[in-house]
Amino acid sequence: MNEHQTIAMLFSGGDSPGMNPLLRAGVRLAQNRHHATVLGIKDGYRGIVRSCRRLRSGERTIAELESEIIAHPGHEGLSRRSQDFVLLDCASVSSLSGRGGIVLGAARSPEFHDASIRKQAIELLSSLGIDVVIACGGNGTLAGAEKLAHESSLQVIGVPGTIDNDVAGTETTLGFDTAVNTAVSAVERFGDTAASHHRIMVLETMGRGSGALARSTALAGGVDIVVTPERGPLTAEKMQGIGRRLERSMTSGLDYAIVIVAEGVRSERDSEKGPTMQLAQFLQGHFQRAESLFPDVEVRASVLGHLQRGGGPSAADRLLAARFAEAACDRIALEPESSGVLGVCRGGIAFYPFGAGRNRVSSRESGELYQLQKSVSRWLPENRHSRGLPIAH
Ligand code: F6P
Repeated sequence: MNEHQTIAMLFSGGDSPGMNPLLRAGVRLAQNRHHATVLGIKDGYRGIVRSCRRLRSGERTIAELESEIIAHPGHEGLSRRSQDFVLLDCASVSSLSGRGGIVLGAARSPEFHDASIRKQAIELLSSLGIDVVIACGGNGTLAGAEKLAHESSLQVIGVPGTIDNDVAGTETTLGFDTAVNTAVSAVERFGDTAASHHRIMVLETMGRGSGALARSTALAGGVDIVVTPERGPLTAEKMQGIGRRLERSMTSGLDYAIVIVAEGVRSERDSEKGPTMQLAQFLQGHFQRAESLFPDVEVRASVLGHLQRGGGPSAADRLLAARFAEAACDRIALEPESSGVLGVCRGGIAFYPFGAGRNRVSSRESGELYQLQKSVSRWLPENRHSRGLPIAH
């Protein structure tokens, strides 16, 4: 990397805690160590597409766009709604290490799937003298980054940032640790009220098609039962099993319970209600049936939703952000020809050419975590008959 290089940083898809410290570390390392210029792009790929549209419609010329970038750097550029590219210096990224969200904005950009739009985007980036793009986000963002790398002469570095922890080639993603902490603290609050009323709370966590957030939250938060997409759809048999298990645990002293359902779980039954509500309704019916041992038990359901994406990043995510930023800058300085994705492998920072990342969590690993959670939350010994232990009814 040399001082004539211009690096653009963008954040796309859903935001995740840790993106702001990544921006801060990226800008400061690129400038302090490598004397490069850094441009922040607003709202991810959408910001580039928006500027292309402005150029096409004649609302702006490329010369006007360049003058705007020079005239309004840093905080001023960040606060101007109509400006998509902002020159960032060390001062303009101060106070970001503990801030949630991303000051540049993040967005999903379906337009970027269109090859002709990407062609215009590449022309614009090259007109602005951009040599490198650092793109942080989940699978959609990284797929966009891969296309950008293949279709241009840009060096493109992808950084996995998502609360879902579902990106191939990395053990963890930026934001996952914070989201688990946030979900655990939510679970504990639900636990307080559930304990007071001796209730069952059925909580839905985010995670798209992955059960990673649900599993880690369940194990760390002392949750009684977790339902994840990796274990198949929510069937009537599965719901009955959950009802029976909770009831048996209550005979052993369980006084209240928390059940987590990952949002990616599908139901075998067509219903307007999602699996979380279906399970809550089923459990309520189960405990109110004629032969129920605990007919007074009430069930409530709640969706944790976007609160899992908010809040200041955990220390672990701040550290990961700095390490990802350093690895990206080193890559740009030492291997200017190579595009690819960063990841965490056996605790260290790894780099894979696009498409070469192995599956992040094998089904064996996710299965092991699931089984561990299940055994840790059990109220009755497994195979108690064969061990000759007394049977509680
Ligand atoms: O990918 C992150 C994530 O929060 C998923 O867990 C969730 O399914 C999705 O984004 C929600 O997207 P949106 O913010 O667009 O509603």
